Amino acid sequence: MIETARQRLIFALDVDCPRAAEYWVEQLHEKVGLFKIGKQLFTRCGPEIVRGVRKRGGKVFLDLKFHDIPHTVARATVEACRLGVRMVNVHALGGAAMMREAVAAVAECCRAEKLDRPLLLAVTILTSSDQQTLSEIGLQRPVDEMVVRLARLAREAGMDGVVASPWEVPLIRRACGREFVIVTPGVRPAFAAVDDQKRIATPAAALVAGADYLVIGRPIARAADPQWAAAAILEEMVAALDGDARG
Ligand code: C5P
Repeated sequence: MIETARQRLIFALDVDCPRAAEYWVEQLHEKVGLFKIGKQLFTRCGPEIVRGVRKRGGKVFLDLKFHDIPHTVARATVEACRLGVRMVNVHALGGAAMMREAVAAVAECCRAEKLDRPLLLAVTILTSSDQQTLSEIGLQRPVDEMVVRLARLAREAGMDGVVASPWEVPLIRRACGREFVIVTPGVRPAFAAVDDQKRIATPAAALVAGADYLVIGRPIARAADPQWAAAAILEEMVAALDGDARG
């Protein structure tokens, strides 16, 4: 069960230089399944950082949230596949055609080049957006309704799953079924500070609600003993997964 928990734990590599990224991969690659590389680190270091993490034994979730015309997003997603990432994401707000074209281009590239196909994820509504943010851009529907609508659209377009706040997980699970992958940030174990996260859940609660993968950054990176923090999170995940398996 510990290995299952490890594979579902994603560490957010929210650092700004390759040396710090390499440090964390060396510290944590036996405790976490994937390392999330976002816009800051990628813009600073370029694709080399993905190769660097992989060389040190880490798998990569490339969190660049592509949103552009369908052709451009499809080609960018294909390049992510060529880098050997295990997860990559796009904005569902880019629409069904954009997501479908990315799905098709990835399938074609992975077949032709014999690459492992990464999980293709969609971001629905960013958790930093609230009702007012949506109103400002002319979207009058409630946030929850938009999240579910975009998750469904992503699934129908052939995407594998979504990134969502723990509080949205039950709604999405109900709408999109058991096979749809849900990755949740905003996870805070009892021992950690809340930081700037708002709609949070503990690792166990997020898994019980139906999340498949947890993205955790500061509760590990800012712990007095990051190895201990990662191990404590894994233990909590194992207990939740054990409970689920029994229930
Ligand atoms: O340090 P912390 O555990 O809050 O890190 C969470 C990670 O997940 C960060 O990289 C953050 O940008 C990302 N994230 C988030 N909420 C979202 C989407 C991504 O916190 N809705």
